[in-house]
Amino acid sequence: MTNDPLVTPPVALGTWAWGDSGQAGNGYFGSRLTEADLHEIAEKAMTSGLTLWDTATVYGMGRSERALARALTQFDRGEYQLSTKFTPQIAGAGDDPIADALEQSLTNLGTDYVDLYWIHNPADVERWTQSLIPLLESGKVRHVGVSNHDLDEIARADRILGRAGYRVEAVQNHYSLLYRSSEEAGIIDHCRANGVRFFSYMVLEQGALTGRYGPQSPMPAGSVRAAAYNDVLPNLQALTDRMTALGAARGASPADIATAWAVAKGTTPIIGVTKPGHVDGLLRAGGAELTDGEIAELESLADATGVDTRGGWEHAMQ
Ligand SMILES: NC(=O)c1ccc[n+]([C@@H]2O[C@H](COP(=O)([O-])OP(=O)(O)OC[C@H]3O[C@@H](n4cnc5c(N)ncnc54)[C@H](OP(=O)(O)O)[C@@H]3O)[C@@H](O)[C@H]2O)c1
Repeated sequence: MTNDPLVTPPVALGTWAWGDSGQAGNGYFGSRLTEADLHEIAEKAMTSGLTLWDTATVYGMGRSERALARALTQFDRGEYQLSTKFTPQIAGAGDDPIADALEQSLTNLGTDYVDLYWIHNPADVERWTQSLIPLLESGKVRHVGVSNHDLDEIARADRILGRAGYRVEAVQNHYSLLYRSSEEAGIIDHCRANGVRFFSYMVLEQGALTGRYGPQSPMPAGSVRAAAYNDVLPNLQALTDRMTALGAARGASPADIATAWAVAKGTTPIIGVTKPGHVDGLLRAGGAELTDGEIAELESLADATGVDTRGGWEHAMQ
């Protein structure tokens, strides 16, 4: 049985972009990242109580996990929580691919346990959920969650874990002002009703909701996110302008407003931080409370964009 409850900070730090090579324009995000910046991000976040770090082996095929381990070397293992993922599509050919994948993650992360281990997507719910049980029993995995699963898939995973005395403790899905399918499908209500933590990813739509990118200042040429977002940036202008105005009234940025919205909706955002200043934004977001009227206005502006940001790896939630 899992006996210690999953306790997490109000915001988690995402490190997908840390799996890029760090060269401008290269990779999924195409941001320029330096080891010095990543160390400073870790230092700032940890001293501010933001101690939950999300990664996955597939983020740069181990590069994100290794960069995270290097950034956290000056801290004791008990001071932070690690969240990483098993991605079915890269399962090896051994007898127990998920156990092998976990060992690889532990090596990359320089640890002997992970706090939160995810099945990255519902490719074969019955097979991969069952394989989590020995990992929980071994103590190498403290808590488990499912990502990109719909309500039926969450229920199936929960039944499998329940037979061994465990449960789905967390759900991690795409959830932003522009993409609210988990809310529409009742997944967020289900999590709230059952004491399951809902982690929202891509709350900033990979930078498209930060106000930094627009038709005159597109995402880095050659990156995957540029291909996904640059064409729709003009449609987002009215929304990001309103986020900018709401932020200005609070000494906050549009990104802070997006984060504050996700918190107000009862979720735990996982924010992909790439600069030390982003951590300051997360702290501001904690104090930037939105009224019900402002939330409704932002959602209505988001709907009016007509933009669908479902990732190529996601299936419809309803
Ligand atoms: N389970 C899944 O399938 C899944 C899928 C996607 C993501 N995730 C997780 O969720 C995390 C978050 O998603 P994401 O990283 O893809 O996208 P995101 O959080 O929506 O956006 C991250 C980007 O926004 C910019 N940014 C971050 N904080 C900012 C701030 N305070 N002000 C201005 N700009 C800011 C950075 O872009 P610049 O570098 O250009 O400044 C950064 O690369 C990932 O890192 C990963 O851990 C999980």
